[in-house]
Formats: sequence, C-alpha cells, structure tokens
Amino acid sequence: MTQLWHHCHAITMAEGRYSLITDAALVIADGRIDWIGKADDLAEQDFEAIHDLGGRWLTPGLIDCHTHLVFGGDRSGEFEQRLEGVDYETIARQGGGIVSSVRATRETDFETLYASAEARARVLLAEGVTTLEIKSGYGLDLDSERRMLRVARELGKRLPVTVKTTCLAAHALPPEYAGRSDDYIERVCETMLPTLAAEGWVDAVDGFCEGIAFSPAQMRRVFETARRLGLPVKLHAEQLSHLGGCQLAAEFGALSADHVEYANADDARAMAASGTTAVLLPGAFLTLRETQLPPIEAFREHGVAMALASDLNPGTSPVLSLRLMMNLACTLFRLTPEEALAGVTLNAARALGIEASHGSLEVGKVADAVAWDVTGPAELAYWLGGQLPSIRFYHGEQVSA
Ligand code: NIG
Ligand code: FE
Repeated sequence: MTQLWHHCHAITMAEGRYSLITDAALVIADGRIDWIGKADDLAEQDFEAIHDLGGRWLTPGLIDCHTHLVFGGDRSGEFEQRLEGVDYETIARQGGGIVSSVRATRETDFETLYASAEARARVLLAEGVTTLEIKSGYGLDLDSERRMLRVARELGKRLPVTVKTTCLAAHALPPEYAGRSDDYIERVCETMLPTLAAEGWVDAVDGFCEGIAFSPAQMRRVFETARRLGLPVKLHAEQLSHLGGCQLAAEFGALSADHVEYANADDARAMAASGTTAVLLPGAFLTLRETQLPPIEAFREHGVAMALASDLNPGTSPVLSLRLMMNLACTLFRLTPEEALAGVTLNAARALGIEASHGSLEVGKVADAVAWDVTGPAELAYWLGGQLPSIRFYHGEQVSA
C-alpha cells in the first residue's frame, strides 16, 4: 500500500544532522520510505492513504539502544540507602545491587515478568520509541536468562516496536558461584551463550567489565565465544573506573561501549578506528551522582558516534523517558540538541548495528517516525520529560499503543 505523508517539516537525521526539509512530503510503500523531499517536487500520483501532518515536525522513530527493562522486584529500598550515604559498590558487595534483582527475577514467572516489562515498554513507546534494545542479565542461569530474552522477544511481537535482544549473562557473579568467577565465565562461554544463541534468542552479547563484575581477561573470553558464535558484542565499560574495557571493545570491533565516564582520549581514538559507538547513559550518571564526565570532546574530536539511552534498570537508572535523557545529555554532558537527537536516532541505530535500515528518514529505510507538535527540533531536548503531543508511525502505520 502506498501512502503520502505531507504538510510537515522533516528532520531527517541523515548523516546524524538535522538535515531539515521544510514543507516536506514522504511517500511510504510497504512500510518503507520510498521518496522524501520538498512537497513541491513530488510528482503527481495516486495514493491509497494520505496523512496530513498539520505542519508538525517529523523525526525518525526514537531508538532506545540500552535497556534492562525486564526484571522482577524493585530496588527503591536501595535508592533510600544511597540517599543515606551508602554507595552503589558497597551495596553490591553486601549482596544487594544487581544480585538482589537476580533473586527477584529468578522467582518471577514468565507472565508476571512480561506484564511488568510491557507496562514499562508502553511508557517508552508512548513517547515515540519505535526500537528497543533489551538485555538479559538478571537471570544468570540458563533458564532465567532464557525467560528474560523470551519476554523481550514477546514484547516485539505484541507491541508496535522492534526489539533487539542482548545476552548479558556476564553481568554479575551469581551467588552460587561466589569466589568462583572464572568457573561462572566458563559456564557462560561453554553452555549459556552457545545454547541461547543456538535457540535463536540472542542478537548481541554484552558484559559488565568492572571491579564489582568481570575483568577484561574474563570479558575477552566472552567476546571470543561471541565471535565463534557469529554474534556482535557490546560492553558496559569504564563506568566506575578505568579498566581497559573500551580498548577491549574496540579490539573486537564492538558495536558499542556503554557508560564510558572513565574513558580517555586513547580509548576514543581506538573506538573511532573500530567504528564502536559510545553509548552515554545520563540516567545512571545522575542516579549514582557521578561526577566524572564522559570524554565528550575527545569523542567529537576523533569522530566517535555518540548514542544516548535510558539504561532503564531497577538499580542505577529507573528511567522511563528517553527524551529526558536528551535533556540530561545536553544539561549534564553539554551535548547540543542536534547531537542529542542523533543519539536517540541514527547513532542509536549504529549502536545496534541496524543503521542501514533504521535511524534516519531516508529512502529505503523503515517508515518508523514521529510527528511532533513542537516549534523546532531543539524543543525535543528542551523539556525535562513529560509527554509531547505527537503522532507516531511504526512501519508506516499510525500507532497508539
Ligand atoms: O547499566 N552497570 C551495570 N549494569 C546496569 C546496572 C544494573 C543494576 O544495578 O541493576 C547499568 O547501570
Ligand atoms: Fe546497563
């Protein structure tokens, strides 16, 4: 079916720039963009449907490229503890943190996990998200990791959203492996990853390279396994300290290195050379009251693509708004609103390896888009959260979920 979208200004984000087309029109055929340009240049033709966008500003659908939105329980108690002065690493070492979400997630059945995940996903979608990355990592045993990935895939089936699944079995040491972290990594590499990959649940492999999680040498084993299985990798790197995760990610041609507050100019150089995207997570930065800023200027200087994501998780980033992340990235990290929009569109697509089909309004790409009731693109990063009125399209169809 061929449709016309017109009476709009298109912020195409081609090349990661606004690339504005005022008085734009788009021809959509079979869920993809068939033509985009000035309405005046459109050849006379018949359409099966016409959408008058009422002068709104049209952007690509938003992409949240780093979430942990499937989990059991909640950790608001830890939020209170942190406010009383106990830090994240101390909580983790006392058996709280990620491991407390692991306990809760293991005890939660598929339907219950699905219901809570769907509720969170709907909040993101209502704001304009059309693609979501979802990690496992709160199961840490084969069955629980599989259950999380199945919930993630199910969201993509039942809601108007493209879901990319990431296996984060190397997120934390499960309690039954206390004092035996190499044995757990062996289990991840010899059993969990190969099984989950063979069953088709995994689009990418991630890990947490940190003092409270796994060393670069352990992550290297995980990445070697991923390479053998033909899966792309990404890494939670240099979040709390500088351990060399970015260099490792670059060496393996990772799609992304995420958090990266403690990364340096050498890391930026290596990431630029390997085409690894830096995923900035201002929600975790804010929640942990971090003061070490990611090396934004070095990323700019070396041409490292910067993406932004919610990091939606129960511990360090209870964030339900990607547009709020755009605001925080500008306010806290001094990104420009243009960089912030690139961070949740084209560069987020790069962080997922789907930039050939997603992330910008260009011919041949999927027609995932949002028509915003705003005065111009900067307004998308200007508001501190809240919902902006918009019309949302997923694969060319208007959606309301
Ligand atoms: O991205 N850094 C590690 N993983 C998550 C936190 C998970 C948690 O605390 O539950 C993150 O911040
Ligand atoms: Fe994370």
